[in-house]
Amino acid sequence: MSEGATLISMLEGDEAQRAALAERKINAISLQRIPRITRAQKMDVLSSMANIAGYQAVVEAAAVYQGFFGGQVTAAGSTRPAKVLIIGAGVAGLAAIGAARSLGAEVRAFDVRPATKEQVESMGATFLMLEFDESGEGEGGYAKIMSDEFIDAEMALFREQADEVDIIITTALIPGRPAPKLILEDMVDRMKTGSVIVDLASSRGGNCELTVPGEAVVARGVHILGFTDLPSRKAATASKFFGGNIAHLLDDMMSDGEFVFDLEDEVVRAATIVFEGEPLAPPPRKPKPAPKPVETRSAVDPPAAIKREKKRSHGHGQPAEPPSAMKTVTVGAVLIALTALLGTYAPAEFVQHFTVFVLACFIGWQVVWSVTAALHTPLMSVTNAISGIIIVGGMLQAGSGSTGLAAILGAVAILFASINIAGGFLVTQRMLKMFQRGPS
Ligand code: NAI
Repeated sequence: MSEGATLISMLEGDEAQRAALAERKINAISLQRIPRITRAQKMDVLSSMANIAGYQAVVEAAAVYQGFFGGQVTAAGSTRPAKVLIIGAGVAGLAAIGAARSLGAEVRAFDVRPATKEQVESMGATFLMLEFDESGEGEGGYAKIMSDEFIDAEMALFREQADEVDIIITTALIPGRPAPKLILEDMVDRMKTGSVIVDLASSRGGNCELTVPGEAVVARGVHILGFTDLPSRKAATASKFFGGNIAHLLDDMMSDGEFVFDLEDEVVRAATIVFEGEPLAPPPRKPKPAPKPVETRSAVDPPAAIKREKKRSHGHGQPAEPPSAMKTVTVGAVLIALTALLGTYAPAEFVQHFTVFVLACFIGWQVVWSVTAALHTPLMSVTNAISGIIIVGGMLQAGSGSTGLAAILGAVAILFASINIAGGFLVTQRMLKMFQRGPS
């Protein structure tokens, strides 16, 4: 390359490579080093390729698996749905969950980062939980290295799963490290003959002990697919996405029609490994806000620690307790006592309205809190329409001929209930649009 030229490519960007590129007096951008932040998603080649790889992993598994992914009941006999375990719910893992679910398989997934639980569940898969107080949340949406005890507990979970599942797709990886060995020989032994393992981490040694990188092998009657070229098996789409990512990167770097290296820009700085012939070490990481203290539980005997997560989650990653029976009874009893007390002093009509109001609040609380957080918005949007009853009440008051406080409150109630109803339908409409397939 001539001096001053710019190389944009998949580059590891380690010290030796930076030095070698610097000798040529060029600029070099490593696509692998584009940070995983929202603004840079459109340029993130690793994510767009992992997305294709996750989908293709399911396609490859389906091709060698002798059963159907979805169950079938026919006159000639019936088959049950395939059971699929996905290890690592990053970009590739989530794409694999989506593809396996859409073929009708029963999917379960595991990841060391608790934040993935809600994503896995929102795609219709079961999240397997370890009762172990260690979060794998690393920097930039990637995992951190886990303790040996955690890996042991995790493997005990996979050993148990190996007896049950037909297909395992592994995607577990921490950037810059060899892939952790999570599926050992004895676990492959436990799998049914004809089962399939697709090891996406094969180019870094593989998550399965018996993976041969780049090859499809049969070991202990199990197909182990170690393909390292999954995006290339969807070459046209991979090229389209790759081109899109590069176009976005170039577009982002253009300023007044000029191609500029703005090293103040977080994305450009992270991805530039050589600038004007000088090697650039990765930028120092921004300090993260101190994590909230977690309640410590003692590490338990790994196999006993394994359980399926049954609790519903609320908010972002924090499991929420639905109202317990005890709490419900206590709140109910307090409300009844207050209403009875009020009944002795307040006019009968007020007590009647107040009772209806309290019951409505109580039922609303019970209904909403017992629903998975992810469903709150669509649920609320439609139930907002129930507040149409407020409009009826408001109209009766406002139209009663009086000009007092009741009429004014009635008019205000009509206004707010109308906003509530119209807003609810607008939100529902927007959510439905997100699921509609647009033209490609
Ligand atoms: P990612 O970093 O988004 O996902 C990896 C996930 O594994 C993370 O969610 C992480 O928390 C999880 N993980 C790490 N250690 C774990 C452990 N011990 N147990 C369970 N989960 C663990 O990575 P991405 O982009 O989804 O890629 C996944 C893999 O696919 C990588 O190994 C990548 O190199 C590979 N890949 C393979 C291709 C092929 O042709 N074979 C093509 C593209 C990507």
